Amino acid sequence: MKISVQNRKETAAACDALIVLLGEDTGLRHYADLDRKLNGMLTRVVSAKECTGQLNQASLLHTRGLIIPERILLIGIGKSSEVTVEKLRQAGGKASSFLKNPGIKKAALSTRLIASRKMPPAAFLEGFLLSQYSFEKYKKEITGKLSSMAILSNMNLNREVRRTEAIVAAANHARDLVNTPANDMTPSVLVRHARSLKNISVKVIDEKGARKLRMGAYISVARGSEEPPKFIVMTYRKKSAPPLVLIGKSITFDSGGISLKPAKGMEKMKYDMAGGAAVLGVMKAVSALNLPLHLVAILPATENLPGGSASKPGDVVKTVSGKTVEIISTDAEGRLALADAIGYAKKLRPEAIIDIATLTGACSIALGNEAIAMMGNDDTLMNKIKIASDETNEKVWQMPLFDEYGEYIKSDIADLKNSSGPSGSLVTAGYFLKEFAGTVPWVHLDIAGTAWTDKDRPYIRQGATGIGVRLLMNLIERL
Ligand code: BES
Ligand code: MN
Ligand code: ZN
Repeated sequence: MKISVQNRKETAAACDALIVLLGEDTGLRHYADLDRKLNGMLTRVVSAKECTGQLNQASLLHTRGLIIPERILLIGIGKSSEVTVEKLRQAGGKASSFLKNPGIKKAALSTRLIASRKMPPAAFLEGFLLSQYSFEKYKKEITGKLSSMAILSNMNLNREVRRTEAIVAAANHARDLVNTPANDMTPSVLVRHARSLKNISVKVIDEKGARKLRMGAYISVARGSEEPPKFIVMTYRKKSAPPLVLIGKSITFDSGGISLKPAKGMEKMKYDMAGGAAVLGVMKAVSALNLPLHLVAILPATENLPGGSASKPGDVVKTVSGKTVEIISTDAEGRLALADAIGYAKKLRPEAIIDIATLTGACSIALGNEAIAMMGNDDTLMNKIKIASDETNEKVWQMPLFDEYGEYIKSDIADLKNSSGPSGSLVTAGYFLKEFAGTVPWVHLDIAGTAWTDKDRPYIRQGATGIGVRLLMNLIERL
């Protein structure tokens, strides 16, 4: 979709639908001239209580040639004195889903109300563009999409608009990767996507290379699959400083391996690479925005299948760091792959490591589908992530890593075991990773509950959510 900023009056904007935001408290205060040209049409809609400005209320009117826009879409934002960035995102989402009609191609946004509250129009645009996303790669019939959106404003919004476009494009790209089924989203396909990004150098370590580097834990996950594993390292270097390393769990399908998962719902385990997709999305946005930083992304990609040479419960493997791990459950594969990715990352002498992973079912038991579980060894970094969370509404909630959890993952015969049963399994997974991070500033984000949504949300439709891209971009721009 083409986004433009136009210094033009609402009545003169050539479009199929003009979006007009309505505050519950301000009513038609900012729109007297429009209402007059429309012979009081807006007043009638408000007094009939069809749209009074309540949050996410919507009403579509035909202007019958009285002004240039064909239609007006009224969207309520609640009390405008209480409007927030998130409410504007939601209003954008609402507007977008209201304009899904093949006859509507060109939209325009009146920014009068937003400007009167000194709010960023980009927030509305963000919700609007996220909401325009749909995954139709496998559908014969595809729905018509809007072709353009004009933001009517006399301010210079170009920077903000380009930034929002780049970040939403990255989040939507991540959603595509996650929604794509595992037969078309293998580790090798992830490599292709990594290589297609500009300004990023990509190194791919294959199984032989991983064995040479002694990534015994990561390799053990790949053993049950015919699909070759790919340990992908992407580097973006526009500053000479120690890198920030992002690690994304990239299990392109998690059957559980020999510790097989139940059949019901297993099809959703294509989303076990959502962490990797988010990290790849961040690299895409960072490169599009040409940010001055040194960033490395690691995607330890593999399938987890129960083939004839698959790892077995009870096997002991050795990680890059030298620590050995007893595999109690082959279904706790994410932490095995991540342990070696963290071990590899540490050799790059990073400023910090952030991993993002659909790591535990317990994450959604604890927090439902509303929040990312965050754990780490560095309060300063976690506090910055909390701010990014507040600004993006990609919610995070911190969980503890008490020393006592160390006992839970002690093995009788190895240094650690990869599972200790259901008790505390969200935090014991985090604690397991902490053992590998050691003293390097590190944060773990468990997105098992948030990377996928079964129902439509205000501006995210059913399916992959692209979570992590907006959060990490906000964080990175702050660092
Ligand atoms: N990928 C799963 C976690 C998961 C479950 C993500 C549901 C999204 C939705 C992970 O590999 C896993 O299987 N974890 C196990 C660990 C257990 C065996 C210790 C879990 O949480 O059940
Ligand atoms: Mn698993
Ligand atoms: Zn998994």
